[in-house]
Amino acid sequence: MLTPTKKILLKAQKQGYAVGAFNINNMEISHAVMEAAEREKAPVICQTSEGSLEYAGMDMLLAIGRQLALTSKVPVAIHLDHGKHPEVVKVAIAAGYQSVMYDGSSNPFEKNIEITSGIVKLAHEKNVSVEAELGAIAGIEDFVSVKERDAHLTNPKQALEFTKRTRCDFLAIAIGTLHGAYKFSGRSHLDISRLKEIKALVKVPLALHGASSVPKDLVKQIEKHGGKLGTPVGVSDGDLKEAVKNGICKVNTDTDLRLAFTAGVRKILTQEPGEFDPRKILASAYDEMVATIRWKIKLLGSSNKA
Ligand code: G3H
Ligand code: 13P
Ligand code: ZN
Repeated sequence: MLTPTKKILLKAQKQGYAVGAFNINNMEISHAVMEAAEREKAPVICQTSEGSLEYAGMDMLLAIGRQLALTSKVPVAIHLDHGKHPEVVKVAIAAGYQSVMYDGSSNPFEKNIEITSGIVKLAHEKNVSVEAELGAIAGIEDFVSVKERDAHLTNPKQALEFTKRTRCDFLAIAIGTLHGAYKFSGRSHLDISRLKEIKALVKVPLALHGASSVPKDLVKQIEKHGGKLGTPVGVSDGDLKEAVKNGICKVNTDTDLRLAFTAGVRKILTQEPGEFDPRKILASAYDEMVATIRWKIKLLGSSNKA
């Protein structure tokens, strides 16, 4: 059932678990997210990036998401991920998304506050909630000094001021994760003490971007069937659990779905070279995605929370 994102995340915050926010780009991915959530009896957030809207169209993805949510027994919200252009965010608010993200993190602090506040005002008039971002989602290893790290990762005091002044509903914070499959050159490492400081000051639910795990079995399967990925590293299970334990309520995951999709397609194409029915090829991708999403939902603690 379509459910306000705020309702889903406030419950998660209160009960101390996190909800998976999975990026949907087409029917198969959307369906896999919903199937996994149903089987886990978990609330879920389906999110569309600006890139996915260019690929498939907002009307199309919204229609797919809504149709699946309509027949689903678990709470589902449809969310705009990383709206970097205020005009796209405004279209999403009018189109009926449950929530939108305005990502003004590349702007100076005051400019980010100014634009985010305007979006929050517009969104709240339509009962749409807003995720905002403060800090740069950049690899922790990109910073050579503590000073540089402090300048890029989310500053706890600024986070408090930002949420108070913008009245945003959720805050995406930077604690060392990075988008994509190559997050760390060595081991997974997050700035959990920074998260604890933010959590102690900020009252709104916190979102973790770049949270994919990059499961080793998927990487192995892709490589076994001809793929070449180099040395991808994701957020470890321990770090993710620690982040959830310390206040992360929304966990953004896209890369793991892409890896699962690719593993499924590569597997069937090499194992059954005579297969050319797209439905059978995509069914293999679908099965891998459902298994990966179910595993992720369990890790976040949101199974049986619907
Ligand atoms: O935050 C990034 C998501 O993985 C979306 O990626 O812009 O390629 O759709 P995308
Ligand atoms: P990953 O690339 O780690 O899956 O992060 C996705 C994300 O943050 C979408 O907003
Ligand atoms: Zn993100």
